[in-house]
Amino acid sequence: MDQNAEFEARIARGETIEPKDWMPEDYKKQLIRMMSQHAHSEIVGMLPEGEWITRAPSLRRKKILLAKVQDEAGHGLYIYSGVETLGADRDSVTHDLLTGKAKYSSIFNYPTLTWADIGVIGWFVDGAAIVNQTMLAKCSYGPYARAMVRICKEENFHKKQGYELVAGLANGTKEQKEMAQDAVNRWWWPSLMMFGPSDKDSPNSPQLMKWKVKKESNDTLRQRFVNLTIPQANAINLTIPDPDLKFNQETGNWDFGEIDWTEFYEVLKGNGPCNKERLEARNKAFKNGEWVREAARVYAEKHNVQ
Ligand code: 3HC
Repeated sequence: MDQNAEFEARIARGETIEPKDWMPEDYKKQLIRMMSQHAHSEIVGMLPEGEWITRAPSLRRKKILLAKVQDEAGHGLYIYSGVETLGADRDSVTHDLLTGKAKYSSIFNYPTLTWADIGVIGWFVDGAAIVNQTMLAKCSYGPYARAMVRICKEENFHKKQGYELVAGLANGTKEQKEMAQDAVNRWWWPSLMMFGPSDKDSPNSPQLMKWKVKKESNDTLRQRFVNLTIPQANAINLTIPDPDLKFNQETGNWDFGEIDWTEFYEVLKGNGPCNKERLEARNKAFKNGEWVREAARVYAEKHNVQ
């Protein structure tokens, strides 16, 4: 049996592929693409929330937000290490982000205008990430799947703290409830876009599903997120900004309206509200960190460590 056939048979048996195993170049390429962009998303995702650390309304909320943003950094480093198990070079992967060549999740190109946004990001964005990453925790590439197991545990804390924050506002003063509703209105549709284009427009999905990297489709995961989140919004009397939302007794799903794919692809092209600002911030941070990299390089040479 040739190596490709053997690989396909291993995938069909549900085996986990490890770094030292033979794998088709395209499998490796797909994983480097997907995992590096996931890592970029974690790192860029620190920016919108990081802006509110100094403006958190209490010491407790400041500590929670600090912990969450720090977790995201750890998720990014964890997944970058996973990318390196595929032979990718960390510097070139970082370069792809800084030059705008690589993507990161569209969701992080929206501004955090009020404190309620911090809660809705935890509730919606981390909630969506949990749906996606719980699936990825069963993917065929060992290091990625194992990284997801650890990351999902922390995402659950992220989602819970976000929902608690929003519930507090929703049950607060009239102004606080309005602030929470405004944030829900602004973040709902971009959160649905996190799951990617619809299945029929998803060029990578067929290969990723064949190789059990993706075990469920973009639309399936999007629907799961909607089904999970609507009851949570109803429980705190917040309205999801979709007039077409309707519970379907037959399927047990919440049917929802059409996503604005023009907006989605515009954000992917770099024309979102904050794309420019996010890339500038990442490039500035990279430049300011040069002295740390230089110090690590000198130390490594002096003490002959890798
Ligand atoms: N934002 C940016 N780019 C997106 C996107 C999004 N929301 N959805 C899709 N794309 C891009 C894809 O990268 C692909 O472009 P490329 O071929 O140049 O890389 C193109 O649009 C077509 O989409 P596909 O559906 O064919 O691409 P995928 O099969 O890769 O599916 C995905 C997209 C669902 C995002 C998948 O890549 C995935 O599951 N990635 C891993 C998880 C991830 O990256 N999550 C991002 C959020 S991380 C996060 O939320 C952090 C948390 O702590 C808050």
